[in-house]
Amino acid sequence: MRVSFTVNGRRETADDVWEGESLLYVLRERVGLPGSKNACEQGECGSCTVYLDGLPVCACLVAAGQVEGREVRTVEGLAEGDRLDPVQEAFVECGAVQCGFCTPGLVVQAHDLIGRIPRPSDAEIREALAGNLCRCTGYEKIIDAVRLAAARKAETR
Ligand code: FES
Ligand code: FES
Repeated sequence: MRVSFTVNGRRETADDVWEGESLLYVLRERVGLPGSKNACEQGECGSCTVYLDGLPVCACLVAAGQVEGREVRTVEGLAEGDRLDPVQEAFVECGAVQCGFCTPGLVVQAHDLIGRIPRPSDAEIREALAGNLCRCTGYEKIIDAVRLAAARKAETR
């Protein structure tokens, strides 16, 4: 089947999509956006998190056919030109990235959290990121990064 959707503001069409193919596969293998990572492919780790019509979803659990006519935003779509989003900057500054496999999903999820709750409490941060697994960092630096990004974004509001 053919699937047409918008990703990061750009119209994309993928042909010969198999009925069981995931949005994650289409993003990574067909439209050249490998930022979203494939770690578990069963909705357990959050490394494939993207926005679908403004809501974070696990792209590995979304069938490609479900995105027909809809809007996807990936980690590649958060920066504005050469300027990283404050969440991305904070992850770098706080040392919240080690192997980096979990990072794209965490960044999208944290971006969504701060969009909904500008100054989240630690409990709210932990709750929001509960579905995103990291095998390397121990999470403390990740929480630091979300706190920093929220503070920076609040300053510019
Ligand atoms: S790869 Fe999608 S949740 Fe793990
Ligand atoms: S930085 Fe390696 S899994 Fe999180």
